[in-house]
Amino acid sequence: MSVHKTVRRITVPQIAARKGAVPIVALTAYHAPAAALVDAHADVILVGDSLGMVLYGFDSTLGVTLEMMIAHGAAVVRSSSRALVVVDMPFGSYEESPEQAFRNAARVMRETGCGAVKLEGGTRMAPTIRFLTERGIPVMAHTGLTPQSSATFGGFKTQGRDSDSWPAHEADAQAVAEAGAFSVVLEGMVEPLAARITGQIAIPTIGIGASALCDGQILVLEDMLGMTPRAPRFVRRYDDLAARIDDAVGTYAEEVRARTFPGPENVYS
Ligand code: KIV
Repeated sequence: MSVHKTVRRITVPQIAARKGAVPIVALTAYHAPAAALVDAHADVILVGDSLGMVLYGFDSTLGVTLEMMIAHGAAVVRSSSRALVVVDMPFGSYEESPEQAFRNAARVMRETGCGAVKLEGGTRMAPTIRFLTERGIPVMAHTGLTPQSSATFGGFKTQGRDSDSWPAHEADAQAVAEAGAFSVVLEGMVEPLAARITGQIAIPTIGIGASALCDGQILVLEDMLGMTPRAPRFVRRYDDLAARIDDAVGTYAEEVRARTFPGPENVYS
């Protein structure tokens, strides 16, 4: 008789219930090996559209397509079993109308097996978030610095430096919470504003360059591992993998050139 250990995935209601409780650990992963490593530690794995910049070398996230998100999302779902997998809706796949958003989000859910989608925007996206959640698509919202609209902001700028802008940011977070989002990413906003929003809304806030007082934190995996040449200033590097990979690849190259690379008899004996 074989004994199967069933690992249950973390669910959307379990993440929503973490408001004000144990902080949510979230990380990005874009492919199978990264997902398998992150899965043991993270509550949420985000297949972020930052993959356009980190994996594909684009200047922004605008070139990312639905097909790219689906291919990476499916790989991450296949290689994880515990974390809730959330897949980003790419630019142009949801802003036109709630119907367009539903059609594409349903495709992402169906073709990847993910547990939820994420989309950017506050008050302006609230009707779309309501439309999706009422039809069975869990939504993680994303407000503050929203990279897909960075052209409108004039670049990647910390939000809320001027306290006159706070009411608009607070209204954005409140609107997505009331529309049914189960959590909201607060990106690139001044600390006191993110802390204030966290105290005001009923759903967990997940900060990135926002505040340690958020209900959880998210980082781009390659940034925190020290693999990206230009990470945002707020990122804490937990390792310097770029240097370690450079060393390892350099050693391999030297061994091949010096013919000291071990032959198969050394490896398999
Ligand atoms: O695309 C992404 O990785 C994100 C996170 C930075 C929150 O949206």
